Amino acid sequence: MAEETPASAASEAGSATDGGGPNTLLVALVLCLVCSITVSSIAVALRGRQVANQENDRKKVILQVAGLYEAGRSIEELFEQVKTRVVELETGQYVDEPDFDQRKAARDPERSIAIPPEQDVAKIRRRARHASVYLVERDGELDRVILPVHGYGLWSTMYGFVALERDANTIFGLQFYEHAETAGLGARVADPAWVGQFQGKQVYDEQGAIRVRAVKGHVEPDAPGAKYEVDGISGATLTSDGVSNLMRYWFSDQGFEPYLKRVGS
Ligand SMILES: Cc1cc2nc3c(=O)[nH]c(=O)nc-3n(C[C@H](O)[C@H](O)[C@H](O)COP(=O)(O)O)c2cc1C
Repeated sequence: MAEETPASAASEAGSATDGGGPNTLLVALVLCLVCSITVSSIAVALRGRQVANQENDRKKVILQVAGLYEAGRSIEELFEQVKTRVVELETGQYVDEPDFDQRKAARDPERSIAIPPEQDVAKIRRRARHASVYLVERDGELDRVILPVHGYGLWSTMYGFVALERDANTIFGLQFYEHAETAGLGARVADPAWVGQFQGKQVYDEQGAIRVRAVKGHVEPDAPGAKYEVDGISGATLTSDGVSNLMRYWFSDQGFEPYLKRVGS
Protein backbone atom coordinates (compact mmCIF):
# COMPACT_ATOMS: atom_id res chain seq x y z
CA MET A 1 0.00 0.00 0.00
CA ALA A 2 1.48 3.33 -1.01
CA GLU A 3 2.06 5.67 1.91
CA GLU A 4 0.56 9.14 1.60
CA THR A 5 3.31 11.69 1.71
CA PRO A 6 2.63 15.33 2.68
CA ALA A 7 3.41 16.25 -0.93
CA SER A 8 0.77 13.94 -2.43
CA ALA A 9 -1.85 15.08 0.12
CA ALA A 10 -1.17 18.67 -0.82
CA SER A 11 -1.45 17.86 -4.49
CA GLU A 12 -4.83 16.11 -3.93
CA ALA A 13 -6.13 19.06 -1.96
CA GLY A 14 -4.96 21.36 -4.71
CA SER A 15 -6.70 19.39 -7.42
CA ALA A 16 -9.94 19.33 -5.39
CA THR A 17 -9.78 23.10 -5.18
CA ASP A 18 -8.97 23.43 -8.85
CA GLY A 19 -11.86 21.14 -9.72
CA GLY A 20 -14.35 23.30 -7.68
CA GLY A 21 -13.07 26.63 -9.08
CA PRO A 22 -15.65 27.46 -11.78
CA ASN A 23 -18.51 26.07 -9.66
CA THR A 24 -17.49 28.13 -6.64
CA LEU A 25 -17.35 31.22 -8.80
CA LEU A 26 -20.78 30.48 -10.29
CA VAL A 27 -22.32 29.93 -6.85
CA ALA A 28 -20.76 33.16 -5.59
CA LEU A 29 -22.07 35.07 -8.62
CA VAL A 30 -25.58 33.66 -8.32
CA LEU A 31 -25.57 34.42 -4.58
CA CYS A 32 -24.46 37.99 -5.23
CA LEU A 33 -27.16 38.42 -7.87
CA VAL A 34 -29.89 36.97 -5.67
CA CYS A 35 -28.79 39.11 -2.71
CA SER A 36 -28.61 42.32 -4.72
CA ILE A 37 -32.01 41.70 -6.32
CA THR A 38 -33.49 40.97 -2.89
CA VAL A 39 -31.96 44.08 -1.28
CA SER A 40 -32.97 46.41 -4.11
CA SER A 41 -36.51 44.98 -4.25
CA ILE A 42 -36.88 45.53 -0.50
CA ALA A 43 -35.50 49.08 -0.84
CA VAL A 44 -37.95 49.85 -3.65
CA ALA A 45 -40.85 48.25 -1.80
CA LEU A 46 -40.09 50.23 1.38
CA ARG A 47 -39.44 53.56 -0.34
CA GLY A 48 -43.08 54.59 -0.13
CA ARG A 49 -43.24 53.79 3.54
CA GLN A 50 -39.97 55.64 4.21
CA VAL A 51 -41.27 58.76 2.48
CA ALA A 52 -44.52 58.53 4.45
CA ASN A 53 -42.58 58.16 7.72
CA GLN A 54 -40.35 61.13 6.93
CA GLU A 55 -43.42 63.21 6.13
CA ASN A 56 -45.01 62.10 9.37
CA ASP A 57 -41.88 63.04 11.36
CA ARG A 58 -41.76 66.47 9.71
CA LYS A 59 -45.39 67.08 10.59
CA LYS A 60 -44.75 65.95 14.16
CA VAL A 61 -41.90 68.47 14.57
CA ILE A 62 -44.09 71.25 13.14
CA LEU A 63 -46.85 70.35 15.59
CA GLN A 64 -44.37 70.23 18.48
CA VAL A 65 -42.79 73.58 17.66
CA ALA A 66 -46.27 75.12 17.32
CA GLY A 67 -47.32 73.68 20.69
CA LEU A 68 -50.04 71.53 19.09
CA TYR A 69 -48.58 68.07 19.53
CA GLU A 70 -50.45 65.64 21.76
CA ALA A 71 -48.91 62.22 22.40
CA GLY A 72 -51.20 59.34 21.47
CA ARG A 73 -53.22 61.36 18.94
CA SER A 74 -52.96 60.89 15.21
CA ILE A 75 -50.46 63.25 13.58
CA GLU A 76 -52.69 63.49 10.49
CA GLU A 77 -55.65 64.54 12.59
CA LEU A 78 -53.66 67.09 14.61
CA PHE A 79 -52.12 68.47 11.43
CA GLU A 80 -55.59 69.46 10.21
CA GLN A 81 -55.13 72.56 12.41
CA VAL A 82 -52.16 73.62 10.27
CA LYS A 83 -52.39 75.29 6.85
CA THR A 84 -49.42 74.75 4.55
CA ARG A 85 -48.63 77.59 2.14
CA VAL A 86 -45.76 78.40 -0.18
CA VAL A 87 -44.19 81.85 -0.11
CA GLU A 88 -42.10 83.59 -2.74
CA LEU A 89 -39.29 84.86 -0.52
CA GLU A 90 -38.42 87.95 -2.53
CA THR A 91 -41.93 89.39 -2.43
CA GLY A 92 -43.35 87.67 0.62
CA GLN A 93 -46.45 86.73 -1.39
CA TYR A 94 -48.15 83.36 -1.38
CA VAL A 95 -47.90 81.34 -4.58
CA ASP A 96 -49.57 78.21 -5.82
CA GLU A 97 -46.98 75.41 -5.82
CA PRO A 98 -48.64 72.06 -5.23
CA ASP A 99 -46.35 69.35 -3.77
CA PHE A 100 -43.58 71.87 -3.21
CA ASP A 101 -40.38 70.36 -1.81
CA GLN A 102 -38.08 73.11 -0.58
CA ARG A 103 -34.96 70.96 -0.32
CA LYS A 104 -35.41 69.63 -3.84
CA ALA A 105 -36.07 73.14 -5.15
CA ALA A 106 -32.86 74.40 -3.49
CA ARG A 107 -30.88 71.92 -5.59
CA ASP A 108 -32.59 72.91 -8.83
CA PRO A 109 -30.75 75.85 -10.49
CA GLU A 110 -34.01 77.02 -12.09
CA ARG A 111 -35.89 77.16 -8.82
CA SER A 112 -33.12 78.44 -6.55
CA ILE A 113 -30.59 81.24 -6.26
CA ALA A 114 -26.89 81.20 -5.43
CA ILE A 115 -26.28 83.26 -2.31
CA PRO A 116 -23.40 85.72 -2.70
CA PRO A 117 -20.66 84.86 -0.15
CA GLU A 118 -21.02 88.21 1.69
CA GLN A 119 -24.72 87.45 2.32
CA ASP A 120 -24.25 83.77 3.05
CA VAL A 121 -24.06 84.05 6.83
CA ALA A 122 -25.83 80.71 7.27
CA LYS A 123 -23.30 79.04 4.94
CA ILE A 124 -25.86 77.29 2.76
CA ARG A 125 -24.61 78.52 -0.65
CA ARG A 126 -28.02 78.25 -2.39
CA ARG A 127 -31.61 78.61 -1.37
CA ALA A 128 -34.92 77.90 -3.04
CA ARG A 129 -36.79 80.95 -4.36
CA HIS A 130 -39.81 79.73 -2.42
CA ALA A 131 -40.33 78.39 1.07
CA SER A 132 -43.04 76.39 2.78
CA VAL A 133 -44.69 78.08 5.72
CA TYR A 134 -47.18 76.60 8.14
CA LEU A 135 -50.00 78.64 9.58
CA VAL A 136 -52.06 78.12 12.68
CA GLU A 137 -55.17 80.27 12.76
CA ARG A 138 -57.55 81.11 15.55
CA ASP A 139 -60.98 82.64 14.81
CA GLY A 140 -59.92 83.15 11.20
CA GLU A 141 -56.84 85.19 12.21
CA LEU A 142 -53.21 84.14 12.03
CA ASP A 143 -52.15 82.96 15.48
CA ARG A 144 -48.75 81.35 14.84
CA VAL A 145 -46.54 80.95 11.83
CA ILE A 146 -43.96 78.19 11.54
CA LEU A 147 -40.96 78.70 9.29
CA PRO A 148 -38.34 76.22 8.11
CA VAL A 149 -34.76 77.36 8.77
CA HIS A 150 -31.37 75.82 8.13
CA GLY A 151 -27.72 76.71 8.35
CA TYR A 152 -24.28 75.31 9.01
CA GLY A 153 -23.04 74.56 12.52
CA LEU A 154 -19.57 73.18 13.08
CA TRP A 155 -19.84 69.89 11.17
CA SER A 156 -23.19 69.88 9.49
CA THR A 157 -26.20 71.71 8.14
CA MET A 158 -28.77 71.97 10.89
CA TYR A 159 -32.44 71.87 9.84
CA GLY A 160 -35.21 73.13 12.06
CA PHE A 161 -38.46 75.01 12.42
CA VAL A 162 -39.13 78.21 14.27
CA ALA A 163 -42.62 79.19 15.37
CA LEU A 164 -43.51 82.85 15.77
CA GLU A 165 -46.45 84.42 17.55
CA ARG A 166 -48.99 86.49 15.61
CA ASP A 167 -46.75 89.60 15.89
CA ALA A 168 -44.32 87.74 13.57
CA ASN A 169 -41.55 88.69 16.00
CA THR A 170 -41.91 86.82 19.30
CA ILE A 171 -40.56 83.27 19.19
CA PHE A 172 -42.98 80.65 20.40
CA GLY A 173 -40.70 77.67 19.71
CA LEU A 174 -37.59 76.44 17.97
CA GLN A 175 -36.66 72.87 17.20
CA PHE A 176 -33.90 71.21 15.19
CA TYR A 177 -34.74 67.83 13.70
CA GLU A 178 -31.65 67.10 11.61
CA HIS A 179 -27.97 67.81 12.18
CA ALA A 180 -24.68 65.97 12.66
CA GLU A 181 -23.07 68.02 15.43
CA THR A 182 -21.11 66.19 18.15
CA ALA A 183 -23.13 64.25 20.71
CA GLY A 184 -22.92 65.97 24.10
CA LEU A 185 -21.57 69.20 22.55
CA GLY A 186 -23.11 70.74 19.44
CA ALA A 187 -25.87 68.11 19.40
CA ARG A 188 -27.43 69.97 22.32
CA VAL A 189 -29.06 72.18 19.65
CA ALA A 190 -31.74 69.51 19.60
CA ASP A 191 -32.07 69.49 23.39
CA PRO A 192 -35.51 70.86 24.37
CA ALA A 193 -33.94 72.58 27.39
CA TRP A 194 -31.53 74.51 25.17
CA VAL A 195 -33.94 75.50 22.40
CA GLY A 196 -36.60 76.16 25.05
CA GLN A 197 -34.62 79.28 26.02
CA PHE A 198 -35.75 80.90 22.77
CA GLN A 199 -39.40 80.89 23.82
CA GLY A 200 -40.56 84.48 24.32
CA LYS A 201 -37.43 86.02 22.76
CA GLN A 202 -37.86 88.71 20.13
CA VAL A 203 -36.29 88.41 16.70
CA TYR A 204 -36.26 92.13 15.74
CA ASP A 205 -35.74 95.24 17.85
CA GLU A 206 -37.82 98.43 17.51
CA GLN A 207 -35.60 99.58 14.64
CA GLY A 208 -36.14 96.31 12.79
CA ALA A 209 -32.59 95.01 13.37
CA ILE A 210 -32.26 91.24 13.83
CA ARG A 211 -31.14 90.81 17.43
CA VAL A 212 -32.00 87.21 18.32
CA ARG A 213 -28.89 85.14 19.01
CA ALA A 214 -27.07 82.76 21.30
CA VAL A 215 -24.23 84.42 23.20
CA LYS A 216 -21.18 82.84 24.78
CA GLY A 217 -21.78 82.49 28.52
CA HIS A 218 -24.85 83.38 30.52
CA VAL A 219 -27.48 86.03 29.77
CA GLU A 220 -28.62 87.81 32.92
CA PRO A 221 -32.39 88.39 32.89
CA ASP A 222 -31.90 92.16 33.36
CA ALA A 223 -29.10 92.47 30.77
CA PRO A 224 -29.86 95.00 27.98
CA GLY A 225 -30.09 92.28 25.29
CA ALA A 226 -31.95 89.75 27.44
CA LYS A 227 -35.16 89.87 25.42
CA TYR A 228 -33.27 88.75 22.31
CA GLU A 229 -30.46 86.54 23.64
CA VAL A 230 -30.02 83.04 25.05
CA ASP A 231 -27.06 81.27 26.70
CA GLY A 232 -24.82 79.60 24.11
CA ILE A 233 -24.06 75.90 24.47
CA SER A 234 -20.96 75.69 26.65
CA GLY A 235 -18.08 73.96 24.84
CA ALA A 236 -19.96 74.37 21.56
CA THR A 237 -19.73 78.03 20.71
CA LEU A 238 -19.30 77.26 17.02
CA THR A 239 -22.59 75.35 16.80
CA SER A 240 -24.31 78.08 18.85
CA ASP A 241 -22.94 80.70 16.44
CA GLY A 242 -24.34 78.57 13.61
CA VAL A 243 -27.80 78.94 15.18
CA SER A 244 -27.38 82.72 15.53
CA ASN A 245 -26.18 82.92 11.93
CA LEU A 246 -29.03 80.91 10.47
CA MET A 247 -31.48 83.14 12.34
CA ARG A 248 -29.68 86.18 10.97
CA TYR A 249 -30.05 84.86 7.43
CA TRP A 250 -33.61 83.55 7.52
CA PHE A 251 -35.03 86.63 9.26
CA SER A 252 -33.23 89.01 6.90
CA ASP A 253 -34.62 90.57 3.72
CA GLN A 254 -32.97 87.63 1.91
CA GLY A 255 -35.12 85.25 3.91
CA PHE A 256 -38.54 85.66 5.50
CA GLU A 257 -38.50 89.37 6.34
CA PRO A 258 -40.65 90.51 3.38
CA TYR A 259 -43.21 87.84 4.28
CA LEU A 260 -43.16 88.56 8.01
CA LYS A 261 -43.62 92.30 7.41
CA ARG A 262 -46.69 91.44 5.39
CA VAL A 263 -48.35 89.02 7.83
CA GLY A 264 -47.29 90.37 11.23
CA SER A 265 -49.86 92.28 13.27
C1 LIG B 1 -14.04 65.94 18.98
C2 LIG B 1 -14.56 67.33 19.13
C3 LIG B 1 -15.85 67.59 18.76
C4 LIG B 1 -16.38 68.88 18.87
N1 LIG B 1 -17.65 69.12 18.47
C5 LIG B 1 -18.13 70.37 18.56
C6 LIG B 1 -19.45 70.68 18.11
O1 LIG B 1 -20.24 69.82 17.69
N2 LIG B 1 -19.85 71.98 18.17
C7 LIG B 1 -19.04 72.97 18.62
O2 LIG B 1 -19.44 74.13 18.60
N3 LIG B 1 -17.81 72.70 19.08
C8 LIG B 1 -17.33 71.44 19.06
N4 LIG B 1 -16.08 71.19 19.49
C9 LIG B 1 -15.34 72.27 20.14
C10 LIG B 1 -14.85 73.31 19.14
O3 LIG B 1 -13.72 72.82 18.50
C11 LIG B 1 -14.54 74.61 19.90
O4 LIG B 1 -13.53 74.37 20.82
C12 LIG B 1 -15.75 75.10 20.64
O5 LIG B 1 -16.83 75.26 19.76
C13 LIG B 1 -15.48 76.41 21.30
O6 LIG B 1 -16.55 76.60 22.21
P1 LIG B 1 -16.32 77.17 23.68
O7 LIG B 1 -15.63 78.48 23.46
O8 LIG B 1 -17.69 77.29 24.27
O9 LIG B 1 -15.46 76.19 24.38
C14 LIG B 1 -15.56 69.91 19.38
C15 LIG B 1 -14.25 69.64 19.76
C16 LIG B 1 -13.74 68.37 19.64
C17 LIG B 1 -12.34 68.11 20.05
